[in-house]
Amino acid sequence: MQNFEFKNPTKILFGKGQIASLSKEIPQDAKVLMLYGGGSIKKNGIYDQVKAALGDKDILEFGGIPANPEYEVLLKALKVIKAEKVDFLLAVGGGSVIDGVKFLASAALYEGDTPWDILTKRIRTEVGMPFGTVLTLPATGSEMNSGSVITREETKEKLAMGGPGLFPQFSILDPEVVHSIPPRQIANGIVDAFNHVLEQYATYPANANLQDRFAESILQTLIEIGPEVLKDPKNYNAAANFMWSCTMALNGLIQKGVPTDWAVHAIGHELTALYGIDHARTLAIIGPSHYKHNFESKKEKLAQYGERVWNITSGTVEEKAQQAIDKTVEFYHQLDVATKLSDYTDNYNNTAQIIFDRFVERGWTGLGEHQNVTPEDVKTIVEMSY
Ligand code: NZQ
Ligand code: ZN
Repeated sequence: MQNFEFKNPTKILFGKGQIASLSKEIPQDAKVLMLYGGGSIKKNGIYDQVKAALGDKDILEFGGIPANPEYEVLLKALKVIKAEKVDFLLAVGGGSVIDGVKFLASAALYEGDTPWDILTKRIRTEVGMPFGTVLTLPATGSEMNSGSVITREETKEKLAMGGPGLFPQFSILDPEVVHSIPPRQIANGIVDAFNHVLEQYATYPANANLQDRFAESILQTLIEIGPEVLKDPKNYNAAANFMWSCTMALNGLIQKGVPTDWAVHAIGHELTALYGIDHARTLAIIGPSHYKHNFESKKEKLAQYGERVWNITSGTVEEKAQQAIDKTVEFYHQLDVATKLSDYTDNYNNTAQIIFDRFVERGWTGLGEHQNVTPEDVKTIVEMSY
């Protein structure tokens, strides 16, 4: 097992009715800006619950943060924060709203002229403006981690940022919010969380028995309850297990002491930036090809995944590993998530070359747990995913 440090300061308030606890979590004298997305919270009652919980607190609002939070929109919110001397942010939404708020928490205290530099120059946020979240969509784990991914339509880029200053102060996780989530987004949440685990698990053995079993148990739980939530989002217990699995998949715990990959996400973000494909679906497109292309270095963990998660008991290491990849693809199809780029766009022929050029330009020459996945490899992986 590798050495590690672990600190996760986010307070979680989990369960039915927890939105009502909101006001006691926000500092009494704070000047608060509440931010949300395209309006789903006004249709499903979450907006009303949040407003009721906030009582007579003086709260400003900023709505309209789109899926894949857009830099230009966030700059408008930044103006409000500065003009109104806001000092506490409240995100009510899914990963996009929470990530947008993390960018704002960083940009609000950033002293440079161009906040986009935080992303391109990979500036870590040591201290950010404090913020809390009310999660409306289980998927990304953003509610309990310090990462964020921001999109810029103008340049068709999607880049990550983070740092210890970007953990939420608190996150409210009420599984009843799952009631109103459309099937496409529920499937996205399952596939995103599943891939978060695989990025931190499908690498090479590191003698981290407990972390491996944490990871396997999250995968097993997602396989078990994913189809149940899809069938009936009002099934509270399925929704609760789904929600907590998504949070646990990316709150830092399972990655401690083990190597991590994240190449699937790096490549996937390009597909969202270029074609607007939902984040989780880009992972379903790239993941299987990535595991096939890097089969030799990943086969032991893939075989372990096959044995322990999919109950594949016979065959060689190679056969088990291969079957595990096939089972993964079947699972995505069972959730109605297509796994080829050509299922999403006709305009894919040049994609591998575009991503190759971008990675070379950014100096992303060694991805993956061994830092040996070159832009050439990335090109092959993307071509395999057509
Ligand atoms: O915008 P509204 O109207 O609220 O609708 C949203 C949006 O259209 C809707 N929705 C959310 N909660 C709902 C609901 N509809 C009905 N009922 C509810 N309760 O769902 C749509 C998608 O929302 P979004 O927030 O975009 O989805 P998700 O949570 O999957 O977030 C995706 C973003 O997170 C980033 C992705 O790259 C992408 O930009 N990620 C963030 C990570 C992190 N910070 O750790 C890690 C992930 O790997 C990922 O990269
Ligand atoms: Zn993800």
